[in-house]
Amino acid sequence: ANGNGGANGNGGATAAGAASPRTMDSVREEHARLRAGIVAGRPEGVRRQHALGKRTARERLDLLLDEGSFVEVDLYRRHLGTGMRLSGRPHTDGVVAGSGTVDGRRVFVYAQDFTVFGGSLGEAHAAKIHKVMDLALATGSPIISLNDSGGARIQEGVMSLHGYGGIFRRIVAASGVVPQISVVLGPCAGGAAYSPALADFTFMVRGTAQMYLTGPDVVQAVNGERVTHDELGGAAVHGERSGVAAFVCDDEESCLEEVRFLLSLLPSNNLDRAPSTGPCGATEDLRAELARIVPVEPNRPYDVRLLVEELLDDGEFLEVHRDWARNVVCAFGRVDGETVGVVGNQPSVLAGVLDIPAAEKAARFVRFCDAFGIPLVTLVDVPGFLPGTGQEYGGIVRHGAKLLYAYCEATVPRVQVIVRKAYGGAYIVMDSRSIGTDLSFAWPTNEVAVMGADGAVNVLFRRELAAAADPVALRAELVAEYAEALMHPQYAAERGLVDDVIDPAETRAVVARGLAVLRDKRGEPPRRKHGNIPL
Ligand code: HXC
Repeated sequence: ANGNGGANGNGGATAAGAASPRTMDSVREEHARLRAGIVAGRPEGVRRQHALGKRTARERLDLLLDEGSFVEVDLYRRHLGTGMRLSGRPHTDGVVAGSGTVDGRRVFVYAQDFTVFGGSLGEAHAAKIHKVMDLALATGSPIISLNDSGGARIQEGVMSLHGYGGIFRRIVAASGVVPQISVVLGPCAGGAAYSPALADFTFMVRGTAQMYLTGPDVVQAVNGERVTHDELGGAAVHGERSGVAAFVCDDEESCLEEVRFLLSLLPSNNLDRAPSTGPCGATEDLRAELARIVPVEPNRPYDVRLLVEELLDDGEFLEVHRDWARNVVCAFGRVDGETVGVVGNQPSVLAGVLDIPAAEKAARFVRFCDAFGIPLVTLVDVPGFLPGTGQEYGGIVRHGAKLLYAYCEATVPRVQVIVRKAYGGAYIVMDSRSIGTDLSFAWPTNEVAVMGADGAVNVLFRRELAAAADPVALRAELVAEYAEALMHPQYAAERGLVDDVIDPAETRAVVARGLAVLRDKRGEPPRRKHGNIPL
């Protein structure tokens, strides 16, 4: 017997022959042979998979799950033979499904097996996926999909499409209830790409993973555009340009290791807390380095990730969408043992302005954290929104509103740290007091205002400057006056918009204490079906 269904599906009743009577041992032996053959798969299929630089579905599950923890369902399932010229009826029907543990915590998984019908999805294949998704939701466990598939199984016609629809509906039903992680390790073509798109986080591996709605042949036929699979939908495209992939990895091993790391930072469901590593003295931790990272001049760049590193336990964090919309940084890490989500403007990329991709990236991150009870720490150093026709025509008003909406509706503990500057609408959007931050802290270098001094003086004193005998001197005087009156942290602190002006070196300790204070915060969900986020 082999993975191609060499057994006739009647439970192996014929093999012993007339001469040797059936015994429990002979039945067990025969069953073990059948099972081992299915698990091993077709040798030529496995060889081809390895030659493509990919692991098999089971090898991947071995890397992802704790050793010996996999409990499989539907090993014997196969299609019902109605497909047009489907060659054989392989057991598993091209997907290995079940549950296992990651660091001792239960997850549900399915891994598509490209060696069986190219991992394509037919009726039985889909039913297996539906089964594990239903079990995941019923038990409050994360769902992880390992995708490697030619998409809808062409020979099964509309039943394949029906199967996909059932997956999409389940992903949406589970959204915000259990974390959903989609790992693309081979082709993920056509509507199949909507599974990763709907999931919380998508991983891709360079070189072997490709994801697109219409393949290179169709693109050429329709547009005359010639592109390779990788140019159209490789990991670099989705990790840097489209933002579809939240994580891009060099190989399958590091990819599945990173999935394990992400899971270690997340709760199993929306009623659970993320695993804690226990307090580590963060509430008393003074870090002189924090004061050295940020230049006092408002426009000098620095890497906000250095701040994030100093803020979090062991300097360890996992950046989401690291290579897309790099002007904002979104990362998971821990403060005093508890998982937090950090959102920070990145002054070393586009001066840290907010633009369309940055707003979308941060909004999605904030909503994930809010859905799963992960407190938010927002590091603000933002000159404003990116001006220009490109942004306005592209709908920055609508996309920027997503971030505003996400923060406004977030009920998790929220701590804002205004590091250096925060101007205009971007100040409001970056978790300001007015939209509901719980605790706000400002560094003494801080400038918060409607706009920078030069711009403000131009608007307010245009006529005076035009008429002045010495416009340069007048401008300098007015800029100084504006800065003195409005651009210092006390202005916001006197009015309760920031709760404290802090020594930069205290930031980690202050954030840790703030999060401890807010730990039992309860957010009431609004009484309505759902809001209408500007999508
Ligand atoms: C049935 C399929 C298949 C499919 C691949 N195979 N895709 N069988 N249905 N969709 C089979 C092949 O016939 C082949 O069988 C085996 O899988 C391996 O495929 P190869 O083509 O030899 O592999 P490779 O050269 O690596 O190319 C992989 C590929 C290519 C790029 C994925 O197979 C491909 O383009 N497939 C079709 C992709 C596609 O258009 N899918 C439908 C999308 S529409 P043998 O027997 O020769 O080993 C869709 C709608 C979903 O998915 C809608 C949901 C809303």
